[in-house]
Amino acid sequence: MNRISVDLAGNGYDILIEAGALDSAGAQLKQHIRSDRVFLITDTNVAAKWLAPLETDLQKSGIRAISKILPPGEQTKSWTVLEQLTDWLLDEGAERSDTLIALGGGVIGDLTGFAASILKRGCKFIQIPTSLLAQVDSSVGGKTAINSRAGKNLIGRFNQPEYVLIDPLVLGTLPDRELRAGYAEVVKYGLINNAPFFEWCEENGADLLARNPKALAYAITESVRTKSGIVAEDEKELSGRRALLNLGHTFGHALEAETGYSSALVHGEAVAAGMALAFHYSARREHCDEADAHRVEHHLKNAGLPHSLESASVKASGDRLVRHMLHDKKMAAGNLPFLLANGIGQTFLAKDVDLEDVAVFLDQMQ
Ligand code: GLY
Repeated sequence: MNRISVDLAGNGYDILIEAGALDSAGAQLKQHIRSDRVFLITDTNVAAKWLAPLETDLQKSGIRAISKILPPGEQTKSWTVLEQLTDWLLDEGAERSDTLIALGGGVIGDLTGFAASILKRGCKFIQIPTSLLAQVDSSVGGKTAINSRAGKNLIGRFNQPEYVLIDPLVLGTLPDRELRAGYAEVVKYGLINNAPFFEWCEENGADLLARNPKALAYAITESVRTKSGIVAEDEKELSGRRALLNLGHTFGHALEAETGYSSALVHGEAVAAGMALAFHYSARREHCDEADAHRVEHHLKNAGLPHSLESASVKASGDRLVRHMLHDKKMAAGNLPFLLANGIGQTFLAKDVDLEDVAVFLDQMQ
């Protein structure tokens, strides 16, 4: 069992990572729930596997679950579903003293966390993430949001959960493609500031993707530890420190936009190709050696992840991809900050990137 504390003044919390944790969720969560009921939000895919066992276990600890099952998929992070969810909570008589539980991947976590932040001016919520991406990234750090007409995650709040319970065993039934996409975010932590962890990924990534429980538990713990440390230094992404977590996301955003945010390229896959591009672009600017970029690309390729424009099936011109980047919410005062690297585990925020040069680079990478 690993317990990691997110060290935030006033709203810190613990993250429990334990194989089989879902089987004792009631006992773990009881101290964080102030009544004899919880509102449990999930989607149809996750509900089919994990809802009944969780409800039964909560019941054993004297906690009644009132559950809402939403459709799976990105379209659930919408104003329409947020309205349905908050109306349902109010119809059920939810109070500020109640706790919402998000049981699911990033969509359910982001929506539930946002609903919790506005319900009766804010109630508590707990994350039980069920995808690798949600376990290592979206359930930790308090970014909650829905999508809007103008783009993804543009309506949201920083709202830290009360507790995060991670059971690596639930990943046993995760589709291969989703596991791999989540793995891209695991590799990201090694590349940001943890070179020994990237070496561990190189040695053990295949085991992890074969769902070796020890490899999964280690990678989740190390990822959560790295993310929590960065969030604790810059909770609301003000100093630039938390922005490091966006490595691969600016290039990745352009690839996702080009593929219409469709299942042709899911978020983790776009981040994988984006990280390879960020390292190659870093080498072009002589921040790191070309050998580092090839090492990153090679590892992502071995993991079966997109690692170039071609393997991401993106054929657009550099100009077109840069235009997508200009719609990224990371744009600030007309400037688009890029995450570049001085080497493996040495990511930094560059604010002086010339977008015309990025377009030339992307044309050369075709
Ligand atoms: N996924 C980036 C962040 O949590 O800041």
